[in-house]
Amino acid sequence: MIRDRVRRYRDEQIAWRRHLHQHPEVANEEVATTAWLRQHTERLGLVEPSHNLATGFFADLVGDQPGPLIAIRTDIDALPIHEETGLPFASKYPGKMHACGHDMHMATVLGAAHVLNDLRSQLAGTIRFLFQPAEEKPPGGARPLMAAGALDGVRMIFGLHVDPDLPTGTIGLHDGPTMASVYDFDLTIIGQAGHAARPHNATDALVTAAEVITALQTIVARDIDPTEPIVITFGEISGGTARNVIAERVSLVGTARTLSPESATQLPELIDRVVSGVTASRGANYELNEVARYPVLSNDAAVNRLLERCTTTAFGSDAVRDTRPMLGGEDFACYLERVPGAMFRLGIRNEAIGADKSWHSPMFIADEDALVVGTEVFVNAALTALDEART
Ligand code: NI
Repeated sequence: MIRDRVRRYRDEQIAWRRHLHQHPEVANEEVATTAWLRQHTERLGLVEPSHNLATGFFADLVGDQPGPLIAIRTDIDALPIHEETGLPFASKYPGKMHACGHDMHMATVLGAAHVLNDLRSQLAGTIRFLFQPAEEKPPGGARPLMAAGALDGVRMIFGLHVDPDLPTGTIGLHDGPTMASVYDFDLTIIGQAGHAARPHNATDALVTAAEVITALQTIVARDIDPTEPIVITFGEISGGTARNVIAERVSLVGTARTLSPESATQLPELIDRVVSGVTASRGANYELNEVARYPVLSNDAAVNRLLERCTTTAFGSDAVRDTRPMLGGEDFACYLERVPGAMFRLGIRNEAIGADKSWHSPMFIADEDALVVGTEVFVNAALTALDEART
């Protein structure tokens, strides 16, 4: 029984997860995390193809019989958040926390690697484990991993993300666009400084910035098909030097997201058009710079059906929920542009232990009972995918 094999690692998985939780490393600094993970994959005899990645890696579990190559991905980075859960295994590093559950992802995927390694003699094919850095920080770690060859020859890819809205024991699936494209941009409005009392001799970058911010929301209301969700948000604004000086420059830090690939390609152009028009009408200038872009995360329906079959067989028909798409970004989307695959949501909600807070909250808590659930889903999915590729 797969379930018995999975449960054998339950206590170890919880210990792994707590170790990782206590030692969080933020994007592109995952040096100790990478070394810790590599110890495990080397002990299991996984083969690590050569690459030049500073953090993160990928390693192959080669089955005893030949067959296709499939991939399982976990992200490995934490967030610059100060943990406030008060858990006995809370983060040991002030200002850093696994507040998005990537510690749970790592423990789940590592569990799957152990179980599948125990089944190596039955495996017809290779399972590649992707330990991806920098999910939280655009431009993200997916593209560097792909540039290092992580997807070469891969037929199908699976990923997961914990979900505090789904009860432990369930998973969430959604076909097609499920997470948003991301267009992160920096915008500077450039006017001309002057005395606060003599606006006619200056070009007020602050007033212009205010108009730009409001006008950009009109893209959502007037330029994009209203049946398509889209957000344009500015998270930071700074400008000006003194009360009695008209500001020369205002800097804005923005992000635009949508679930529609068509809107995603339109958005940068629309933003530029509006900014150009509003600044011209005020006699101001602007600089608009793209910081990062992610595609829409679109789950493959056939891969979702495979995950659904595996999950309902193991846990019953109630265990699979349809999750609502959301406008968060996720660089797993980059892999899905290259190969068919899906990211499932792993339910970790358990009010009794406080596991009901949102991602990125300093109070974020995950139900560790979900570890074996996610592991069983991955193991069944990998076995089924290799099996179906053969027939
Ligand atoms: Ni995350």
